[in-house]
Amino acid sequence: MSKKSVFIVSFLTFSVSIFPQKSIDQKVDALLKKMTIEEKIGQMNQYNDDWTSTGPVTVDNEKAAQIRNGQVGSLLNCLGTARVRSWQKMAMQSRLKIPLLFGQDVIHGFKTTFPIPLAEAASWDLSAIELSARIAAIEASASGINWTFAPMVDIARDPRWGRVMEGAGEDPYLGSRIAYARVKGFQGEKLGSVNSLMACAKHFAAYGAAIGGRDYNSVDMSNRLLWEVYLPPFKAAVDAGVSTIMNSFNDLNGVPATGNKYLQRDILKGKWGFDGFVVSDWGSIGEMINHGNVKDEYEAALSAITAGCDMDMESRCYKNNLEQLVKDKKIDVSLIDDAVRRILRKKFELGLFDDPYRFCNADREKAALNDPEHSKIARQMAEKSIVLLKNENQLLPLSKELKTIAFIGPLVKSLKQNKGFWDIDVPNTDSTFIVSQWQGLQNKVGQSTKLLYAKGCEIEGNDQSGFAKAVETAKQADVVILSIGERRDMSGEAKSRSNITLPGVQEELVRAIMATGKPVVVLINAGRPLVFNYITDSVPAILYTWWLGSEAGNAIADVLFGDYNPSAKLPITFPRSVGQIPIYYSHFNTGRPATNDEDRNYRSAYTDLSIYPNYEFGYGLSYTTYQYSDLKMTAKTMNVNGKIGVSAIITNTGKYAGEEIVQLYIRDKVGSIVRPVKELKDFIKIHLNAGESKTVTFSIDKEKLSFYNQRLEWVAEPGEFDVMIGASSADIRLKDSFELLN
Ligand code: BGC
Repeated sequence: MSKKSVFIVSFLTFSVSIFPQKSIDQKVDALLKKMTIEEKIGQMNQYNDDWTSTGPVTVDNEKAAQIRNGQVGSLLNCLGTARVRSWQKMAMQSRLKIPLLFGQDVIHGFKTTFPIPLAEAASWDLSAIELSARIAAIEASASGINWTFAPMVDIARDPRWGRVMEGAGEDPYLGSRIAYARVKGFQGEKLGSVNSLMACAKHFAAYGAAIGGRDYNSVDMSNRLLWEVYLPPFKAAVDAGVSTIMNSFNDLNGVPATGNKYLQRDILKGKWGFDGFVVSDWGSIGEMINHGNVKDEYEAALSAITAGCDMDMESRCYKNNLEQLVKDKKIDVSLIDDAVRRILRKKFELGLFDDPYRFCNADREKAALNDPEHSKIARQMAEKSIVLLKNENQLLPLSKELKTIAFIGPLVKSLKQNKGFWDIDVPNTDSTFIVSQWQGLQNKVGQSTKLLYAKGCEIEGNDQSGFAKAVETAKQADVVILSIGERRDMSGEAKSRSNITLPGVQEELVRAIMATGKPVVVLINAGRPLVFNYITDSVPAILYTWWLGSEAGNAIADVLFGDYNPSAKLPITFPRSVGQIPIYYSHFNTGRPATNDEDRNYRSAYTDLSIYPNYEFGYGLSYTTYQYSDLKMTAKTMNVNGKIGVSAIITNTGKYAGEEIVQLYIRDKVGSIVRPVKELKDFIKIHLNAGESKTVTFSIDKEKLSFYNQRLEWVAEPGEFDVMIGASSADIRLKDSFELLN
């Protein structure tokens, strides 16, 4: 560097330090001072851009005028740089030129569709999950969006609930780790990077515990269950720096979450110190009238703002009532100021005041939406999400030398179904940008393998007229692959089902094909755990493929032929019957535990149902086998502030390289509050070549042993703890115990 430039650089550094830039908070305060009450309330108002809708639409022809008037803070469901730019231009005509936020449900990918979140959770692969969210953010932020309504971090233990597909399953520990990874992925290095989205952890809180698995239903639970199971993933999201939180439709113990002060002000903004903003769910402020908790929109607005909800999605209760509430002295304007300050801070952090069009670069949009690298990453994520449930006599992987393969079923040739619920049809992009399962298989096998196809039946309905052709086709093949399951929109919002068996006559189709005596592989495509006992009991090979996204076909073929050795494990228990729901691994022992299905007399069991699920939490096979050995603990006693190291050797004893998810469970033997029979406390995913061994180590500290006592204090109580290392929650391979000292 020349002397002159050294001088300039040091002068600049010097001047920055003596004339510091205004901090974001100072800028927010300065702007707030200029705002009228109407403009402030405008920032708290969010509308749907009627390009598409994800809730009941309110016809409103005044949106453009209101934006120009500074009466709107954000839009949702507005896609593409051109459309976003045109709305943003209107906001720039408002008196104070405050840019709009553009929100979208970017749930599992944007143009490139990744596996549904529940499927990704089955990978237990935190860096892959983070990367999936990152790619979604890169694409969405290039297409005008700066805010995603994701991740959904609701714990869900009822597969009837359609939104089970949107989360990470039943477990608070796994759910928290995944929530953290997803927030980091969406938000990137820091908010303000041009490819970062604001994340939104939702739905706060306990929405996943809707009674009977019926969407939007009430939730009734103890405070301890709330704190131990349902809140941890939200806390993890806050720890990861999540920008926003969405409240929820349900009432919690009689108080709608949207108007719940305990949840939003006391816990979230108080105890956890959350400094982002809270958005309502679609119309949920107004829906408090239906709940029967407030009389009218005026009371609804009062309840929501008092409880700490900062932005109103689509109900218009804030717009129409907040000013009057201030005039009537029902609320102090400082409540509004606090909400607006939180919203403006995010707009500054996103860099929107520097350039309101920074997410509207059409060239960047084109490049990001056509980056072939994204498909590669989606394919890898999809491979990691497929769960091998059964593989009798090592039917899988299939040989690439097979002469004839029959690919049968209603999902073989479908395109869109593979995307699952909450996919996004990005305007002006190619909708055939999905690799069907048929295409995936064609891409995989060589010229010498003949592929035969028959549909067999539809997903729904009673028509069996295609069975004969399907059976004939099966008879000509060396192996039959059957692709069956739900329709993509049978799970998702407002898609609760009371019967979660395979729809239509698909099970009959499987029976008809099985009767040919041919080796059969079943692929089950679904957005939730289904009940499929006949298949479990009779079909030799089963892959649970969920909805895998754009690269479904390629990823399935990779697994079928062993180019990827399956490693996924279930993030949620699969019941044998709807009658077992809710069924989850971390249950209490009860006073009369049944030890097996013969043990029913005066036991906690059903007279007509097994106590065991179809497949347990943490379950999933591989083409290879793993041996667990040499459990070692660094001590047999631990002081409250100490640590114990636990290690084991894992050996790949089979023929294929693979990845194993080694799970650490702990049981607190005696607690002032009864403790679950086991709780996941850590896991590690390791890669092992055939014959290779690796030592895995876990560290146990007070945090892993603590729970909420009677007074809701987070404590570790002295006493004996079991330590279990396993390949699933039921397949515990190594066990020991230690004592926590006083
Ligand atoms: C859903 C939210 C979603 C919102 C906006 C609501 O119906 O519950 O999860 O983010 O719509 O699409």
